[in-house]
Amino acid sequence: MAEELTLIESTDKHEIYQSLLPQIKSLVSGEPDQIANLANVAAVLKYGMDFLWVGFYLVKQDELVLGPFQGPIACTRIRKGKGVCGTSWEQAKTVIVPDVDAFPGHIACSSASRSEIVVPLFKDGEVIGILDIDSDELNTFDETDQLYLEQLVELL
Ligand code: SME
Repeated sequence: MAEELTLIESTDKHEIYQSLLPQIKSLVSGEPDQIANLANVAAVLKYGMDFLWVGFYLVKQDELVLGPFQGPIACTRIRKGKGVCGTSWEQAKTVIVPDVDAFPGHIACSSASRSEIVVPLFKDGEVIGILDIDSDELNTFDETDQLYLEQLVELL
């Protein structure tokens, strides 16, 4: 049985991620079911970091299909190369968008979203899904988020 999430009082992103990562590690270790783990990770990031929307899209045939998430309802299918998520999938790399209105082709699932980061999940060198996080403020994500979120998806 998992313990409750421990939230530290800090405004330092490094400190918050550093407190969440070991908790995520212990949550997912020993649980082989991917959907269960993705669901818990979405909850940890949503409540631990207070983001607008945190979720996963999984590669199914030639599309990304909505997986476990926390936040407002979202679009269910995204094609390769489309939006921020499809771009991250196509390029197989993390994409940081400081202002979604300035990203050509951005798919607006929530009108409250202002900035976004998308981190690919790999298995055997292939992208098998993406972690997508939306913020209701501009310029929320930087290389600090990229550093810790890329470490996080390696745990999955
Ligand atoms: N904005 C994303 C779509 C997914 S939602 O933000 C949850 C995109 O442009 O790919």
